[in-house]
Amino acid sequence: MRDEAVAGLHIKKLGRYIDATLGNGGHALGIIKLGGHVLGIDIDPKMIEISDTRLSKLNNFKLVRGNFKDIDRIASENEWTPVDGILFDLGVSNIHLKDLERGFSFENPDASLDMRLDPSEQGVKAYDLLNVLREDQLTNMFEVTLDPGPARWITSRVISARENGQITKVGEMQEICKGLKTGRHGLNEATLPFLALRIAVNSELENLKTGLTKSFGLLKSGGRIVVISFHSKEDEIVKDFFKEKSLEGKAELITFKPVKASDEEVEKNRRARSAKMRVLQKIK
Ligand SMILES: C[S@@+](CC[C@H](N)C(=O)[O-])C[C@H]1O[C@@H](n2cnc3c(N)ncnc32)[C@H](O)[C@@H]1O
Repeated sequence: MRDEAVAGLHIKKLGRYIDATLGNGGHALGIIKLGGHVLGIDIDPKMIEISDTRLSKLNNFKLVRGNFKDIDRIASENEWTPVDGILFDLGVSNIHLKDLERGFSFENPDASLDMRLDPSEQGVKAYDLLNVLREDQLTNMFEVTLDPGPARWITSRVISARENGQITKVGEMQEICKGLKTGRHGLNEATLPFLALRIAVNSELENLKTGLTKSFGLLKSGGRIVVISFHSKEDEIVKDFFKEKSLEGKAELITFKPVKASDEEVEKNRRARSAKMRVLQKIK
């Protein structure tokens, strides 16, 4: 959904943009090619390293490691206000999903179930949550991606497993997930519990709410926010925020329904199957 997202920003030559989830810089590069100037933010020091190698020689590009929940501070410290557009391409990148050491991938059962995007700032790992949360807290966490029945089922499996010692490895959690009925065909049974853990460890929903609110304050009149989300709870936050701004008469919905990836893109990139894009334009 790269082209659609960049088009959604309506890039102006010499306009000032923020890519709040830089990743390996694909979208940022798309904006720069159309004449925009980009401040790229990523929370993950490894992604910053990758983008630095790829993009740092370009003019019109600035790179900052940080959390988009602090987008107002990051923009003002870098003298990057007001802006013409802000992009959020949420979640993790394919580079994270292929990394065998950080707990995002199912491919290495011996990896530590860590999942922190910023190990230098975040103390709590995914397995800490599994080992310390109370039953009701675990259920609430799993209910972010699972229906209540499967969330309670997986919680009871975690609680039984931890009676035999700490859960620390990817493979141990995969074992716990065996037999989970999510009601979603063709999905690995561990996908949704792992997603719930990742969202919790990285406070993804809270960051999104804060990031969106602060972003709106950074936009020029006529400026746009484009968000690509990957699961229903994220999309709900975006939809509600955009609706609120439009009802207040402060913004116009450019997309009434979310834009989805084409069959061709889903064919090339499985992750795109759940992507939804929404666009908002500030009026005042
Ligand atoms: C889907 S990837 C972005 C891919 C990117 N659009 C590209 O073209 O390569 C999401 C990126 O957002 C980063 N991220 C996740 N949460 C973040 C946050 N709260 N603040 C800043 N970056 C974040 C992740 O580290 C990841 O690199």
